[in-house]
Amino acid sequence: MPQTVRGVIARSKGAPVEIVDVIVPDPGPGEVVVAIQACGVCHTDLHYREGGINDDFPFLLGHEAAGLVESVGEGVTDVAPGDFVVLNWRAVCGQCRACARGKPWYCFNTHNAKQKMTLTDGTELSPALGIGAFADKTLVHAGQCTKVDPAAPAAAAGLLGCGVMAGFGAAVNTGGVGRGDSVAVIGCGGVGNAAIAGAKVAGATTIVAVDVDDRKLEWARGFGATHTVNSREVDAVEGVRAVTGGNGACGRILPPGRPETYQQAFYMPDLAGTDVLVGVPPPDMTVELPLIEIFGRGGALKSSWYGDCLPSRDFPMLIDLSRQGRFDLDAFVSETISLDDVEAAFEKMHRGEVLRSVVEL
Ligand SMILES: NC(=O)c1ccc[n+]([C@@H]2O[C@H](COP(=O)([O-])OP(=O)(O)OC[C@H]3O[C@@H](n4cnc5c(N)ncnc54)[C@H](O)[C@@H]3O)[C@@H](O)[C@H]2O)c1
Ligand SMILES: [Zn+2]
Ligand SMILES: [Zn+2]
Repeated sequence: MPQTVRGVIARSKGAPVEIVDVIVPDPGPGEVVVAIQACGVCHTDLHYREGGINDDFPFLLGHEAAGLVESVGEGVTDVAPGDFVVLNWRAVCGQCRACARGKPWYCFNTHNAKQKMTLTDGTELSPALGIGAFADKTLVHAGQCTKVDPAAPAAAAGLLGCGVMAGFGAAVNTGGVGRGDSVAVIGCGGVGNAAIAGAKVAGATTIVAVDVDDRKLEWARGFGATHTVNSREVDAVEGVRAVTGGNGACGRILPPGRPETYQQAFYMPDLAGTDVLVGVPPPDMTVELPLIEIFGRGGALKSSWYGDCLPSRDFPMLIDLSRQGRFDLDAFVSETISLDDVEAAFEKMHRGEVLRSVVEL
């Protein structure tokens, strides 16, 4: 029997979010219904609400979630009712060219549930990143469920499902940060601080946090930044050079997808370093760079989706690191809120007051 649950939707571009009744079908072949326990508020949810991702309104928002498997459809063997899972937005197919070549994090045929969740009038919902977890329950593909240690608190564990994984992986997987490296992270929200934590775990010895907000820089120190630069007060490039003996940073990780931060990162490299763009840029943004500079410095200009992660490999590992006290996953949870508070959480995010507000259900 399809179930009616509460969910938070963005009905149209820029309009405040609404709590509505959502119809969740029984899981079909390969699908799973998950009872959500917690779901973080990510900047990407706001991008959806602002029409910055696509125009497939109405969106069922929320995608950084953990919960318990409630029921599974035909052919689902990897998870069973009662399992504690973190939801992921890249359920790899195992068969496409990327998967066949052993690089499943580039899979271009990732799975989502085939059936649609709907409003009570039958309007089909577009779940954010194929998840839609600001809801009591959601319908996903079985591959979107990654089992993790049930002792982990749901509010923190769910954050692995997007922002924390994206930042950590941008540093460690995409950026290849290693022992003794210097790293600059421009934009230290949830994603940027996860990049800082990742760089620390990977052994970077100089980690420069760059942000326009002193609160974020303070938090960044807690996650492992060795230096901070407030780029509202000091030129970001000069600031990073000043604390790296004039050398610049081998790795630059950029959570905000904006031309000015891209330019800053581009002009603060140590020789043959790597820039990793993580932030989602609006479709109309462009950047102009001198080709001779790109040639002359070596290194790489990369982008990172989801930290080039493999959920089955990386989520349990990050939970283990956290439980060993080597990675403070819990510190990303600034506050826990209810489903009614998502709009207010967007405003707090905008004002820079939180790393993550997490809806608990
Ligand atoms: N690539 C991916 O897979 C992926 C995954 C999750 C999120 N994202 C994206 O990452 C970005 C960051 O997400 P978040 O949740 O951490 O957002 P957030 O709002 O928590 O953090 C953004 C930070 O950037 C800082 N900032 C803004 N403009 C700046 C500037 N010009 N210079 C320096 N700092 C600046 C802000 O003060 C804030 O601390 C978003 O664009 C989000 O969509 C990408
Ligand atoms: Zn694939
Ligand atoms: Zn996200």
